Amino acid sequence: MTRWFTNENPGLAHFWHPVARIGDLDGDGPHAVRLLANDYALARLNGSWSVFPAACPHRLAPLTAGAIVDGSLQCAYHGWCFDSDGTCVDIPALGSNGTIPPKAHIDTPAHVTEQYGLVWVALDEPLSPIPVNGEWDDPAFGIATIPTQTWNASAAQMTDNFLDVAHFPFTHLGTIGDPDDREVGEYEVVREQWSFSAEHHHSSKILTDAQRGNADAFETFDRTMTFRCDAPHHVRLHIDYGADGVLVLLFFHQPVDDDNTTLYCIALAENIADGRQRPEDHIAFQAEVGREDRELLEQLIRNGVPLDPGVEVHTRADKITVELRRLLRDIDALEASAP
Ligand code: FES
Ligand SMILES: [Fe+2]
Repeated sequence: MTRWFTNENPGLAHFWHPVARIGDLDGDGPHAVRLLANDYALARLNGSWSVFPAACPHRLAPLTAGAIVDGSLQCAYHGWCFDSDGTCVDIPALGSNGTIPPKAHIDTPAHVTEQYGLVWVALDEPLSPIPVNGEWDDPAFGIATIPTQTWNASAAQMTDNFLDVAHFPFTHLGTIGDPDDREVGEYEVVREQWSFSAEHHHSSKILTDAQRGNADAFETFDRTMTFRCDAPHHVRLHIDYGADGVLVLLFFHQPVDDDNTTLYCIALAENIADGRQRPEDHIAFQAEVGREDRELLEQLIRNGVPLDPGVEVHTRADKITVELRRLLRDIDALEASAP
């Protein structure tokens, strides 16, 4: 039977995932978040984010209904309080001299941090770091944050799409796709342990505002795209526009459950920092490119990527997405080899 890599693959527990964009959150929480089909309560206690299982150990009340009181998370039902590592520090019904039973303490993921304006979680010891992107702190780059979206697709499928070098002249005719640039030249994929990269040169379409909506009136220009994929499925596109500067697109995926993936997309652009373009221009354009991808991906018959190479047909143009399938098989094997 064909195995599919979905958002609920157990191997995903060994990697970092974003669970929220801090700018989307209203205060310190607790906030409901969902990752790998499990529900959690996210709260900022004494300045640091913690992730709690959704249910209080006492009578399983949702901890998302609780409140932050004196730096701990207090359950709304009987007031039990938990500190940032899940230790139960107060059971009001037992009084100040009561003995807290060991089972009142909660196991919380130890690996929670902030990066790129996102809260990241690794449920088990992470095998690779959160991807490094030096442009985030580089004053030569301005930041455009594309609004958070949740797609009815798997993170692996979305990564497959963001790495794909052959779809531009078809899926993206309304934005970047040059209809005359169909052939994919030779390129190499370089694999490191939990990441891989590739460089691709191609012609891209640029539409001025006046040309938008008129598919025949456009100019093209050459650009060099350097793709990097970091396990489990985070994508970085470094796009060199020559004299027009560099654009870096980051695609971070939150595998919510088998049906849903939340996408956090960030554009880092030299032409924002030097004032030639406004962040809102990048946001509108990337949102439109993403809409073209999303429309197609949400029609795929299954929210997953097959791990059996014989299920799909691969060509030399697909080298980079074939490497993604190898990486996914390696992630899938992690759990299989676990005791
Ligand atoms: S259910 Fe949480 S304190 Fe009772
Ligand atoms: Fe695309």
